[in-house]
Amino acid sequence: MNVVLGVGGGIAAYKAAELTRALMREGFTVSTVMTSAACEFITPLTFAALSGRKVITDLFGNRSADEILSSSVEHIEVAQQNQILVVAPATADLIGKFANGLADDFLSTLYLAFQGPVVIAPAMNTNMWQHPAVVENLAVLAGRGHRIVGPDAGALACGTVGPGRLVDPEQIVSAVVAASIGKTDLSGETLVVTAGPTQEPIDPVRYITNRSSGKMGYAIAEAAAARGARVVLISGPVQLKPPAGVELVAVRTAYQMRDAVMEHLPEATIIVKSAAVADYHIASVPDKKIKKTAARMSIDLDPTPDILAEVGSKKGDRLLIGFAAETNDMVPEARRKMQTKRADMIVGNFVNAAGTGFDSDVNEVTLVMSTGDTVPLERATKKELAHKILDHALRLRLALHNAV
Ligand code: PMT
Repeated sequence: MNVVLGVGGGIAAYKAAELTRALMREGFTVSTVMTSAACEFITPLTFAALSGRKVITDLFGNRSADEILSSSVEHIEVAQQNQILVVAPATADLIGKFANGLADDFLSTLYLAFQGPVVIAPAMNTNMWQHPAVVENLAVLAGRGHRIVGPDAGALACGTVGPGRLVDPEQIVSAVVAASIGKTDLSGETLVVTAGPTQEPIDPVRYITNRSSGKMGYAIAEAAAARGARVVLISGPVQLKPPAGVELVAVRTAYQMRDAVMEHLPEATIIVKSAAVADYHIASVPDKKIKKTAARMSIDLDPTPDILAEVGSKKGDRLLIGFAAETNDMVPEARRKMQTKRADMIVGNFVNAAGTGFDSDVNEVTLVMSTGDTVPLERATKKELAHKILDHALRLRLALHNAV
């Protein structure tokens, strides 16, 4: 799929180079259009070298009137050749031009000619971001259905601290992925997704955890948001940035995860429990570090709450999807967990198979459903599997509904 990246003239323009690479890693072909102000911050050569494609910097180029007249109309051609327009950084000036239909350079002209989905990633000084003119202009763009990503808050290049920083490239990529899917079969749904490991403290400096990276759960959250759902992502400690448009609730322990899930349960229509929750914890954690001695030591562990089982007992007509991380007997174990915890579907995965499971970008799963069906899915990336799991979940809900 072809993406045209519009780069505005702000200090964050250099981050658009990183965004180009991130989009290409995701499989997009990237063409770049730069405003003249953007060229003051970073050279067109950078984007040409990264994307391997010509970079457009102005409306008329260095062409004679004859050359312009004999060639096709370039901004129309670019608008037709690309499926998604992403503007990063989107400055106050660009946002104002887009909102008011002004077209005095290539990018603003392209915007008017472009008919596909538009992703806007604003970046500017905090006072500019909060100015009523920018707020109103942005509301106009949001009202046109454009996806607005960010900005983040933090220390800005101008010295102020506050909202205005360009979001992480990965978040812009997830907004572009969402725009590319064009599927809105989850709009109106609220998904509560759990992801990552939990950490159970032993003392103030030590804890028990597991190898979950959060990739599987984050992929599901990203896929659901891309398909129009509101997503509450309840995550243990991981190294991942939350996907664009997802509401992150960061937790550490199994008890905190349980409380967060229960708090959001009333809003949920679908619950996906992909977190690797610790099964045991230390009930009374000392407030001082345990000293090393020569003696052998043991730790008493108590069971943590089984969140999936508790949700299963209170789920009402919500769809409940659990996971099962197994090293053997995967399908029977997944079926047993589904029945005892009253889940509608369990996604079983072998976690000792090479190259899949924990911390890998790839997984191989079998779906065990309450209808009695068992569906093995081919090995694929977690991002691809996330969509397939959601496809099957929607079909399962329909089947359960029709069976009533
Ligand atoms: O995070 P990644 O690196 O991408 O790895 C993905 C994964 C392997 C962690 C994921 O695919 C997975 O299998 N997640 C579930 C891991 C797990 O804890 O499985 P389990 O069989 O121990 O638990 C069964 C189910 O009960 C799970 O839905 C789990 O979230 C839930 N559970 C478990 C214990 C507990 N106290 N409360 C729970 O809700």
